[in-house]
Amino acid sequence: MKMTTQDMKDNICIVTGAAKGLGRAISETLAKAGAERVYACDINMAPAESWIGDYDNITAMTIDVCDSTALKALRGHVRDTYGRLDVLVNNAGITRDALLGKMTETQWDQVIDVNLKGVFMMTQAMLPLIKEQNKGSIISISSVVGVSGNIGQSNYGASKGGIIAMTKGWAKELTYGGAQIRANCIAPGFIDTEMTQAMPQKVLDKMVEAVPLGMLGTPQDIAEGVLFLASDRARYISGQVLKIDGGLVF
Ligand SMILES: NC(=O)c1ccc[n+]([C@@H]2O[C@H](COP(=O)([O-])OP(=O)(O)OC[C@H]3O[C@@H](n4cnc5c(N)ncnc54)[C@H](O)[C@@H]3O)[C@@H](O)[C@H]2O)c1
Repeated sequence: MKMTTQDMKDNICIVTGAAKGLGRAISETLAKAGAERVYACDINMAPAESWIGDYDNITAMTIDVCDSTALKALRGHVRDTYGRLDVLVNNAGITRDALLGKMTETQWDQVIDVNLKGVFMMTQAMLPLIKEQNKGSIISISSVVGVSGNIGQSNYGASKGGIIAMTKGWAKELTYGGAQIRANCIAPGFIDTEMTQAMPQKVLDKMVEAVPLGMLGTPQDIAEGVLFLASDRARYISGQVLKIDGGLVF
């Protein structure tokens, strides 16, 4: 679907994990679609130095989604500058893969902290800004692994499945009293980013073989889904999991 450049007009957006990979594509796509401001947040903004200067409507913010003090500061800044938030994209995520018998408590905790608690904390911190106008779109990046599981990813699968359950709850809770606050997930399949490039080639080849469309997805494939769910074109869509995975899981 080709979006016009005005779909995000006047929107204030926050994207986490925005320095590279999916978060970069999402930030650039929202900015190109006319967002008034995109706050591109990442614990490490260094990879964004090469591209962020191309956009005068993207602001870089070094933020750890698990740092409640930093989240409060971000909320204060957005409130003082714009007084509202229209779109929150929870994209930051990590992997610490290991088979069940070998996964350490640290590996479990790190992934649950960033991928699940981080989404909860960021959304809770920004909710007052979304409630300012009782309208907004929260999009959280889950994974097909959160839907159907994967070998060596107990921690990751639990975090991504948890995001789906939280989102479904928010779709009910945040519309209470007539508010138009939508919450949806995107569940990407195998997308060509550093996260997948870190996998052994043999594993990657096997995964591509399993994809009916026969290829990895691109970050832009995910960004297009985010743009749709963020925009008013999706105004009647909430509580959903949009799988963008080449037909892998259904
Ligand atoms: N690449 C894939 O195939 C794929 C598939 C399904 C889901 N996903 C999900 O999509 C999201 C983006 O993945 P990606 O492939 O672009 O990964 P990536 O590793 O390229 O980028 C993730 C970004 O998140 C940032 N980040 C990590 N911890 C953070 C924290 N505590 N606070 C703020 N930022 C933090 C990193 O610095 C990095 O810039 C993740 O949630 C991932 O689980 C990716």
